[in-house]
Amino acid sequence: MTGEIRRLKTGIAGIDELLEGGIPEDFFVAITGEPGCGKTIFSIHFINQGIIEGDKCIYVTTEESRESIVRQASQFNMKFEEAINDGKLIVIDALMGREDRWSLQNLDPEALVSKIVEAKKELGYGRARVVIDSLSAFWLDKPAMARRYSYFIKKVLSKWSFTILAVSQYAVTTAESFGWGVEHIADGIIRFRRLLRGGELKRFVVVEKMRQTNHSRYLHEIDVKPGVGLVVLGRVDRRVEDYRLPPDVMRKILDSKRRTEEVL
Ligand SMILES: Nc1ncnc2c1ncn2[C@@H]1O[C@H](COP(=O)(O)OP(=O)(O)OP(=O)(O)O)[C@@H](O)[C@H]1O
Ligand SMILES: [Mg+2]
Repeated sequence: MTGEIRRLKTGIAGIDELLEGGIPEDFFVAITGEPGCGKTIFSIHFINQGIIEGDKCIYVTTEESRESIVRQASQFNMKFEEAINDGKLIVIDALMGREDRWSLQNLDPEALVSKIVEAKKELGYGRARVVIDSLSAFWLDKPAMARRYSYFIKKVLSKWSFTILAVSQYAVTTAESFGWGVEHIADGIIRFRRLLRGGELKRFVVVEKMRQTNHSRYLHEIDVKPGVGLVVLGRVDRRVEDYRLPPDVMRKILDSKRRTEEVL
């Protein structure tokens, strides 16, 4: 056994720095966060870096059509269309319900894994990157199945040499009622957040977990730049909670928490 861990660059310099160079090979990483906070764009960068490095790339899209993903990538000068035609990338469309070979008609976990394996066979031998955007879509109407489905998908795909990003939509209600799905079984968690501050939308990222990695534990502000994509602006010293709520509201919450603790 060697201590050497091979890492896959995300293609975003500022993010790779937070991860000792990248995501360990064969990891299953949860990408989570609220709507519009950068999960899909982050995933697109990860795939684009795979195309550059000659990896076999598979992108499963449940929230947007294949065309929408290709168009979003092209806005950042990433040539997904070309990669598809060159046999380097397969985008599995699970939204439009079309009958073509690379579409999924139903959000069924078994159909998902067999389609991913079929895509890998088609792309051929070699290191592979897989994005499932989003995995939580597979249990939308049955949130109690989140853990069982995530476990099944990880278990089946772990027989293959895939490095996987599983996007999960953060929903407080679901998390509270049923616990986490993807996060429990993931080797890593990268959490995106978005907040309104001073009337401006701000986005952040924090690596919450990455096994076998001395990762950054700090929140970093990010932005999406036209023609470029996701960029890391820098470290945020304060906790994300401090950003979210006005100080007086925060104080009231802390006061009430202290009173409860005193009672207990
Ligand atoms: N060409 C662009 N130039 C600048 N900003 C852009 C561009 N394209 C997208 N964005 C920004 O990125 C956001 C979308 O990010 P992304 O699709 O990664 O979100 P997400 O976390 O996947 O959301 P969801 O959960 O809804 O799928 C847009 O709302 C917009 O603010
Ligand atoms: Mg998205």
